[in-house]
Amino acid sequence: MSTTRSDSQSPSNWQISDSLPSHPEPYKIKMIEPIHLPDRKTREAALQEAGFNIFNIPSDHVFIDLLTDSGTGAMSEHQWASLMEGDESYAGSSSFFRFKNAVQDVMGFEYVLPTHQGRAAENVLHSVLVHDGDIVPGNSHFDTTKAHIEFRHAHAIDCTIDACFVPENDEPFKGNVDLAKLAKVVDEHGVEKIPFVLITVTNNSGGGQPVSLTNVKEVAAFCHERNLKLIIDAARFAENAWFIQQREPGQRERSVREIAKEVFSYADAATMSAKKDAIVNMGGMLCMRDEELFDQCSSFNILFEGYITYGGLSGRDMEALATGLYEGTEDDYLSARIGQVRRFGDSLTEAGIPIVRPPGGHAIYVDAKKFLPHLDQEQFPAQALVCELYLEGGIRGVEIGTVLADRDPDTGKNRPPKLELMRMTIPRRVYTENHLQYVRDVLVKLWERRDSIRGLKFTYEPPILRHFRARFEWE
Ligand code: F0G
Repeated sequence: MSTTRSDSQSPSNWQISDSLPSHPEPYKIKMIEPIHLPDRKTREAALQEAGFNIFNIPSDHVFIDLLTDSGTGAMSEHQWASLMEGDESYAGSSSFFRFKNAVQDVMGFEYVLPTHQGRAAENVLHSVLVHDGDIVPGNSHFDTTKAHIEFRHAHAIDCTIDACFVPENDEPFKGNVDLAKLAKVVDEHGVEKIPFVLITVTNNSGGGQPVSLTNVKEVAAFCHERNLKLIIDAARFAENAWFIQQREPGQRERSVREIAKEVFSYADAATMSAKKDAIVNMGGMLCMRDEELFDQCSSFNILFEGYITYGGLSGRDMEALATGLYEGTEDDYLSARIGQVRRFGDSLTEAGIPIVRPPGGHAIYVDAKKFLPHLDQEQFPAQALVCELYLEGGIRGVEIGTVLADRDPDTGKNRPPKLELMRMTIPRRVYTENHLQYVRDVLVKLWERRDSIRGLKFTYEPPILRHFRARFEWE
């Protein structure tokens, strides 16, 4: 991808060129997993049975599964080989030390606690740092992060830049934190109410958009000035570093690993779902610099996850994770991966389908408000679109909209987000461009008959994280 920029250093003056030269995958396929498209009647029955919630659909009734990029990647031969070297000792497993060395090498943190996935790392960290009435500012907290904050009667406040909420805005770093918004929150509530500032890279809830190195540095400087901790949600840190390499002036000659390590150097701690950029099917971690914080978190890790040298993972999982951390931060791999997502997104834009621009690192987000303007947000247009995509082509996407946003814990009211999106998430090293061409063709069919798409209403609504278990019917 080439970027051009004016002489000004202002990100809003940078432009992303429209074409990305194709970068072939730096691997070939050794093993395949058959998939098939169930017939229309089977899909209709499966959707009814699922209460119009695609989390309830068995995967063998799904043809192309774009529900998530989390834990759905294809491991390499080296990762599979690493599994065989797992040391399953309860304490002091050699696999833990290999994992710890990889974390120190790639991410630069002195201390690490393994956890079974990302939200478990959040649980451990928040158990130490987040208390009743606290405020956690950040750039579009992921839903489990927000839920962990609200579970402790604290509040997550979104300080993402406004450009993030304008789908057609083509700015290169739409995931950035707005420093003026952040300063306002800190001034309003006072530093003693703020256990940390959180930067999520890439900004998943905001369209998979990256955060610039400059922005991370500015937020870190702000935090240090006010004596606030800075935490990074590192689920997709490698993809974020690739965007910095490609789009930020002066970064093109640096490796993704160099950039990623610099980003982490500004943070006090990081939580990571290793199911994303470390390309494992299960795993997470909590990384820190401070020994005292590590000590406090260790107790909760033992309580919730497992002893500090395995914390919810088997030795073999830690081996695959260590190998995956290196593979997931290779420049060539990232160029092929993000290029695939980019070309898929561009093909939808060419067909006139409204998506969040520019395409993010791991997913394409369809703008459901623009796709289905005849539906009100309370009729869950993105959820309706997810159901239609399944019915039309056996493809499973996911709603990132009003259902996911849950109700306001104080008022009990729905809180329709600014963006109402259907996310089509691309698993790592799994689907070919032919698969994505098929998805495009199915979406074009839906686009042509969009006026016929109906809204949904709840038949069951769970109190916490409702989008996983809610049930609906057509209005
Ligand atoms: N943070 C971010 C930015 C995430 O995207 C996720 C998970 C988590 C934390 C939690 O990690 O699932 O390992 O417990 N995102 C997945 C998704 C589920 O589909 O976007 P986890």
